[in-house]
Amino acid sequence: MDTQDIDVVLHENRAFPPSQEFQDQAHISGREAYQALYQKSIDDPDTFWGEVASELHWFKKWDQVMDNSEKPFFKWFTGGKTNLCYNCVDRHLDGPNRNKAALIWEGEPGDSRVLTYFDLHREVCKFANGLKSIGVKKGDRVAIYLPMVPELAMALLTCARIGAVHSVVFAGFSADSIKDRILDMDAKFVITGDGSWRRGNPLHLKSMVDEAIEGVDCIEKVVVVKRENSNVFDCDIQEGRDLWYHNLVKDQSQNCPVEKLDSEDMLFLLYTSGTTGKPKGIMHTQGGYMVYTYLTAKYVFDLKPEDVYFCTADIGWITGHSYLAYGPLANAASCVMYEGAPNYPDNGRFWEIVEKYGATIFYTAPTAIRAFMKWGDQWPERHDLSSLRLLGTVGEPINPEAWMWYHKVIGAEQCPIVDTWWQTETGGIMLTPLPGVTPTKPGSATLPFFGVDAAVINEDGEEKQAGLLAIRKPWPSITRGVYGDPERFKETYWCNWDGKYYFPGDGAKIDDDGYFWVLGRVDDVVNVSGHRIGTAELESVYVEHPTVAESAVVGIKHEIKGQGLASFVTLREDIEGTDELKTELDELVAKKIGKFAKPEKIIFTLDLPKTRSGKIMRRLLRDIAEGRALGNVTTLADPSIVESLKGQYSED
Ligand code: PRX
Repeated sequence: MDTQDIDVVLHENRAFPPSQEFQDQAHISGREAYQALYQKSIDDPDTFWGEVASELHWFKKWDQVMDNSEKPFFKWFTGGKTNLCYNCVDRHLDGPNRNKAALIWEGEPGDSRVLTYFDLHREVCKFANGLKSIGVKKGDRVAIYLPMVPELAMALLTCARIGAVHSVVFAGFSADSIKDRILDMDAKFVITGDGSWRRGNPLHLKSMVDEAIEGVDCIEKVVVVKRENSNVFDCDIQEGRDLWYHNLVKDQSQNCPVEKLDSEDMLFLLYTSGTTGKPKGIMHTQGGYMVYTYLTAKYVFDLKPEDVYFCTADIGWITGHSYLAYGPLANAASCVMYEGAPNYPDNGRFWEIVEKYGATIFYTAPTAIRAFMKWGDQWPERHDLSSLRLLGTVGEPINPEAWMWYHKVIGAEQCPIVDTWWQTETGGIMLTPLPGVTPTKPGSATLPFFGVDAAVINEDGEEKQAGLLAIRKPWPSITRGVYGDPERFKETYWCNWDGKYYFPGDGAKIDDDGYFWVLGRVDDVVNVSGHRIGTAELESVYVEHPTVAESAVVGIKHEIKGQGLASFVTLREDIEGTDELKTELDELVAKKIGKFAKPEKIIFTLDLPKTRSGKIMRRLLRDIAEGRALGNVTTLADPSIVESLKGQYSED
């Protein structure tokens, strides 16, 4: 976070109150109703969350709403028995939603598939019976490496139905990353696909999994989904280990009883980057996650029976889990799911999809909005977007300019914009406007959601106007910790302020109206196009290369991605920093992590700026990379290094 950002938001005074028309039909009918409900959620969370949970199905009611006896490992709805798949699918079968579209899937080549809640139930049951037939049991970890095809959403629901723990690995990750995750979670099964389409090109996936699990003993079976209508993907099927999904489910019964699970049974693991080289397996459980994603989806997106909800996130990330799959489905929404790139076959593809299905709610990332802006207004103008009534953003701070463009060009100045701040660890949306209630300000995630007690504090735990974002009370979908590493959970999120606050790792500002402005990460995590990348992950990749002595990676401003990465690399003696070597290092990052983690720039340097005690001064590297005047350099051991680096970086 730098002072420039604070200045920008300090001068952002525009406010956009909800229209009377929106307010009249919204779930929450105005500021007073919000205040009353918010106060109740803070003063009496047990009653508040107990009432919300009662809107969902429980096979056995909970004994206690929140159990804080093992702080910070909070438990919710303990003693209760439920099932998230049941609540997302079966619960909707007896009534008007039975034949309503649940998933409206659009393939990149233009093929499409609509599954009603009845269809979804049938397919999930067959899938569940298929998985059971190959030995998948409650508690088993199932790694999922699938593109954005309907079977991905079904795979989540299927695992939830039988109590298996799913862990989706985003299809952009490399074989090495899949392997690391599989080993960490000790997965027994993989669900993958032969391939998918990306910008008109085939994306072969199965070979990645083959490479990832070679010599990995824990994997028993691999289920392979065949991309419908496509026969172009390379795919070897290894007898005895691999099975085609269509053969597995073909003769299965279309009924499969749900597992009655404990509220605290694990639902999924999702790996996310932190400040070390090793990604963390963030754990979420059935009951609390269900209740929180259900309520946030209902109120933040103001979901109504007739809505068509289009979330552009990939299910490989938390947004796709919580707000493409579970949250909206728990509300019986009709969800649009798109397989491919936003600019294929042309830059208007998202708008074509909005028009084609009459989407009413559209949820995307600021990085996408900045790309749309750059491509120009002519693309959205070619399509009828009048069905839209609500817009959302997530993943990174949105700059006011992009917000205004979204508001004017996509929302025709009619649609409220919900800028939602949250994280993999929070499970669901934490700071957000409520449409119909909260006047919005471009660039602010505005106010805390029900039950969220947020503050901005300094290192000493004193409340300030600008500082660190912190959350006081636990909420139902707070992560249950880091898989296999309870200490890391305590150290990362609860170490400061005597464990009184959950610390998300973001800097923030609070304005005179009590609005929160999240300014970005304050740790060594960089948010590239809304995806978290730990700088330490790249650094540990570089040092594996025989020519590299040391490296430091920093986040830099990027016009479209929000942030990009700049890598400063010192080579071993007598090694020359050539363009070929840069390509080799890029390839190594693609192999070890994935292509999306490639830095914007690699700079070879004779040394890195360090303090006299040997600590790398990343702040100075950021100044150099962004071409700013250098901050305080008095603690530098050797000031000549930054001077030579500065010259070199600007030539590069
Ligand atoms: O820095 C914040 C940023 O994204 C981080 C969480 O990343 P991840 O776990 O991958 O989840 C992304 C999708 C929820 C946060 O720590 N972030 C997310 N939403 C916003 C945001 N920063 C500012 N404004 C937001 N609306």
